[in-house]
Amino acid sequence: MSVLVTGGAGFIGSNFVLDWLDQCDEPVINLDALTYAGNLENLARLQGDARHTFVRGDIGDAGLVSSLLAEHQPRAVVNFAAESHVDRSIHGPAEFIQTNIVGTFNLLESVRAYWNGLEGEAKAGFRFLHVSTDEVYGSLGKTEPAFTETHRYEPNSPYSASKAASDHLVRAYHHTYGLPVLTTNCSNNYGPYHFPEKLIPLVIHNALAGKPLPIYGDGQQIRDWLYVGDHCSAIRRVLEAGRLGETYNIGGWNEKANLDVVHTLCDILDELAPPATFNLPIASYRSLITYVKDRPGHDRRYAIDASKIQRELGWKPAETFETGIRKTVQWYLNNQAWVRNITSGEYRNWVETQYAVEAVA
Ligand code: NAD
Ligand code: DAU
Repeated sequence: MSVLVTGGAGFIGSNFVLDWLDQCDEPVINLDALTYAGNLENLARLQGDARHTFVRGDIGDAGLVSSLLAEHQPRAVVNFAAESHVDRSIHGPAEFIQTNIVGTFNLLESVRAYWNGLEGEAKAGFRFLHVSTDEVYGSLGKTEPAFTETHRYEPNSPYSASKAASDHLVRAYHHTYGLPVLTTNCSNNYGPYHFPEKLIPLVIHNALAGKPLPIYGDGQQIRDWLYVGDHCSAIRRVLEAGRLGETYNIGGWNEKANLDVVHTLCDILDELAPPATFNLPIASYRSLITYVKDRPGHDRRYAIDASKIQRELGWKPAETFETGIRKTVQWYLNNQAWVRNITSGEYRNWVETQYAVEAVA
């Protein structure tokens, strides 16, 4: 028995692979293209571990995927591989269409052929779990109820539209071909190995360097935040007991405005690593907060109703925002070498492109 994980060198995928092998000995075949977001350093502690096989490659490469399936005969595929950053999808949507839509389509085709060739228990027990996002549901007003699994799809960015399309393909492969699929739609994750293009790791990274902490627009956009380890445990649970063809929303019941998240990060950093530690001439990291031009089409609010997964599968998050965010800040402080290694080269080019605009306040 083994599982094929795609995108397992990225933020959530690598956390998932590490957690999986902490919990059990079932081997993982990890297929990742190692784009700018994939980082083998995340998996460093698995070096020499025979339970982990890393393969560099594209989910859209049908020949490669088919040969991996034939060779390893996995009982499940967990699909994390994607282009994942909204701002990058605004600057250049083409790769999002290619990986998230065409790549998922090709992966589904390879998996369908493999599954068709299985027999008996192997066929009945096989699962394709597709990891998706709450962004497919669009944006909520301040007082609207949180997204349930039946909320209509209203994606607003090239990223969320491409994820929505991939969700629809996964659904269609179940209804049309009977492929045993499961889909999860999760809210904003944070935690170790989070690439510092996303709000939380970017703010920690910039603060420690004494650089501006960029807040898009008025900073009152709301996200639901989930500690990445909780996302991983939810996916394991859905894989284990989710009903075929169903969608499960995963969230942390932690709605926060961006500005509040940034204030919290500054306060924890002030306590754990005061600016003076880095010879920064400021009393608090809060003074680095800088309002910048808003993200085009910026969704105002996401909120996840995660009662279905709790009711049906007994899953709920273990971390509160307060415990998870403190752990996360501590992890970044303890792993500055990891941050240094990835914030070179391509990362610098991205930051120059994205934040080349003047601060607005
Ligand atoms: P990430 O950008 O950190 O990692 C994506 C990984 O996929 C990278 O390792 C990259 O190399 C790999 N990859 C990209 N294109 C590939 C391809 N064509 N073939 C094989 N590998 C490829 O993303 P993440 O934040 O870890 O997100 C993982 C998944 O979870 C995505 O599908 C994303 O949509 C979804 N998701 C993310 C969040 C979040 O808050 N980060 C929340 C909900 C859902
Ligand atoms: O909701 C789930 C989604 O969460 C995932 O599907 C995506 O893959 C993931 O990237 C994340 O998307 P967001 O756009 O919500 O995350 P990001 O960290 O980019 O931004 C969080 C909020 O912070 C958002 O309202 C934009 C804002 N922001 C972001 C950055 C990078 C800023 O104000 N300043 C910034 O510099």
